[in-house]
Amino acid sequence: MPRICIIGAGPSGLAAAKNVITSGLAESLVIFEKSGEVGGNWVYREKPGHSSVYETTHIISSKTLSAYEDFPFPAGFPDYPSHRQLREYFESYAVNFDIPSRIRFHTEVTHAELDHTGVWKITSRGPRGKRVEYFDYLMVANGHHWDPAPPKYEGSFTGKFIHSHDYKRSEPFRGKRVLIVGGGNSAADIAMECARVADRTTISMRRGHWFLPKFMFGTPVDVLYHRSLWMPRPIRQWILRLTVLLWQGSNRKYGMANPDYGVLEGHPTVNSELFYAIRHGQIATKPGVSRLDGRTVYFTDGSSETFDVIIAATGYHISFPFFDKSFIDFKGRTEIPLWRKMFHGEIHNLYFIGLFQPLGCIWPLADFQAKLACLEIEGRYTRPADIAVRIEQEMRKPHFRFLKTPRHSTEVDYPAFRKELRKEIRKAARIQ
Ligand SMILES: Cc1cc2nc3c(=O)[nH]c(=O)nc-3n(C[C@H](O)[C@H](O)[C@H](O)COP(=O)(O)OP(=O)(O)OC[C@H]3O[C@@H](n4cnc5c(N)ncnc54)[C@H](O)[C@@H]3O)c2cc1C
Ligand SMILES: NC(=O)c1ccc[n+]([C@@H]2O[C@H](COP(=O)([O-])OP(=O)(O)OC[C@H]3O[C@@H](n4cnc5c(N)ncnc54)[C@H](OP(=O)(O)O)[C@@H]3O)[C@@H](O)[C@H]2O)c1
Repeated sequence: MPRICIIGAGPSGLAAAKNVITSGLAESLVIFEKSGEVGGNWVYREKPGHSSVYETTHIISSKTLSAYEDFPFPAGFPDYPSHRQLREYFESYAVNFDIPSRIRFHTEVTHAELDHTGVWKITSRGPRGKRVEYFDYLMVANGHHWDPAPPKYEGSFTGKFIHSHDYKRSEPFRGKRVLIVGGGNSAADIAMECARVADRTTISMRRGHWFLPKFMFGTPVDVLYHRSLWMPRPIRQWILRLTVLLWQGSNRKYGMANPDYGVLEGHPTVNSELFYAIRHGQIATKPGVSRLDGRTVYFTDGSSETFDVIIAATGYHISFPFFDKSFIDFKGRTEIPLWRKMFHGEIHNLYFIGLFQPLGCIWPLADFQAKLACLEIEGRYTRPADIAVRIEQEMRKPHFRFLKTPRHSTEVDYPAFRKELRKEIRKAARIQ
């Protein structure tokens, strides 16, 4: 029986564990989890730790498209569940598939390397101290929204400067002059929350972004998008662009730059409140930051303003602290060299699970990746022999013309990626 190691018991690690268990491969399975709970990012804590969610986080992918396909959300969940509801959901998923007993909680994988025989040598640190164990397969599900990527500016700021990873609640910012940097989902959510209590809230974006409302015509926007899947992608983009512009007008009407790329070619910001708050005078807008001087922030349009706090909602690095940098390091890359965002070109007993950012939800597709990995371990699926060529093709031909920035290195179109993964899974079913 193969010895399988999973790093992480967040939504992706749980999907990996479920597939190992349901495939009958779990005899020597060990899941390492550095925290004391399952759910990863969705375990909200007041104290900054692994999780990057804040008190008021609700998901941006709707309930229709955000449950594991074999484990529906409980009846009564709202369209966009809260982090508390998701945490409970992941806990019940883990219990349902008998996962917790296989997890070594409070145990961090500190080093992972291949020994001279091609077996994984895993070093961990936990309640029983440091341990070295050997595994035939490694599934990496350590998440990619936890290692903050703060911006670097000329000059220095003498007020409080935090990254959105450390933002938990708006209360500490009551009565303050707050600048939020970024135009992604964290920036929009946090700006809204601060605007309720701060003396003044300003959001600075160095480029134009596409903002999608959470609902259109009374329907969650991702559900609407899925209704257009029968159309060719450029037509889908054209219709979505037109609908969004008719619905809310261009960014310029709200004091922000228009995006210089097509809709869905950048990770969308799904937020129905930001535009409203801007036009109610609760949030001011600024272009990018050019330099800092004491409490003064200078912007690229030549204007300046004084702030007490800067919250940099500028995203995350992809990090694998347990791999030697000379072995695997995707930090700062605009493309990652993996096939189907999971298969490495040369290492045959390594799988990345959940290392992608969909225009949609991560964990249902992490489940498909894990299924494929298990099929290969069982000998029922073989990755393509020309995998190096496939990796090149995948990097050259993304689902949309995504912006070539590290933020989009793992971006995928949910329905297209789902189809690709299911196609590989079906190949295994045919050779049964
Ligand atoms: C504010 C916010 C909102 C989001 N909203 C959405 C959304 O609406 N929809 C969506 O699909 N995604 C969303 N995301 C993305 C989020 O990353 C995924 O929802 C999801 O958490 C990914 O699951 P994961 O298991 O891959 O990673 P994580 O949830 O990050 O879990 C990784 C787990 O691995 C453990 N771990 C890490 N390193 C080690 C180690 N060395 N040893 C042992 N254990 C380790 C961690 O403790 C953690 O439990 C959001 C992210 C943020 C920050
Ligand atoms: N409610 C929710 O469900 C929710 C909430 C928050 C986050 N999320 C998810 O969590 C993930 C992370 O989101 P995020 O918003 O934290 O990060 P993100 O999506 O990476 O967005 C980072 C933002 O900061 C900007 N930025 C990056 N570096 C910068 C710099 N040096 N100077 C100025 N601006 C910079 C980016 O703009 P450029 O394009 O110019 O780089 C972008 O607007 C995403 O998948 C997101 O969908 C979901």
